[in-house]
Amino acid sequence: TAGLILWAVIGYGLGSIPFGMVLARVMGLGNLREIGSGNIGATNVLRTGNKKAAALTLLLDGGKGSVAVLLARVFAGEDAVQLAALMAFVGHCYPVWLGFRGGKGVATFLGILLALAWPVGVACCLTWLVAALISRMSSMAAIMAAALSTGWAIVLGNGAIIILAFVLTLLVFWRHRSNMARIKVGTEPKIGLFR
Ligand code: G3P
Repeated sequence: TAGLILWAVIGYGLGSIPFGMVLARVMGLGNLREIGSGNIGATNVLRTGNKKAAALTLLLDGGKGSVAVLLARVFAGEDAVQLAALMAFVGHCYPVWLGFRGGKGVATFLGILLALAWPVGVACCLTWLVAALISRMSSMAAIMAAALSTGWAIVLGNGAIIILAFVLTLLVFWRHRSNMARIKVGTEPKIGLFR
């Protein structure tokens, strides 16, 4: 169990790095809390108007999820992989450095799935893309990608990833409460990329 605790900490540590927040600061784009939804993710970085920063945030927030999975896979067993993956997601959403007020986990969710079982990850990325093209809403795309992820895991994955996908889906839904409320009343903003 000491080993598992270590992997939980490593996963959380990686996940809790708020790349969007840091990049927005370093690149002089301002404080994400005062922009758009106030969220620290790539979608909100995009609202600063800097597409490069948004793409980089997406890549790094996804990458930290992948790295957590790959490190655990190389240096430990399958239990450690699942735990590191879950904790990377939790770290992104609840980072101690930001008073536990983190992001919504979508990029990290996709990065985790890509590293865990790439066909499932690719299917979820494509689901996000199709839903984004149709709805023009990042949150709607995230909700759809999460909603279908367990199904994709059943079709393209194996036992452990199915459970993890389901748990992460519930967490993604939970983190998109405010977005769902806005979607319901029709006030959720469309993404800049498609405007
Ligand atoms: O990745 C988060 C996205 O699904 C929604 O972000 O800033 O529109 O709340 P935001």
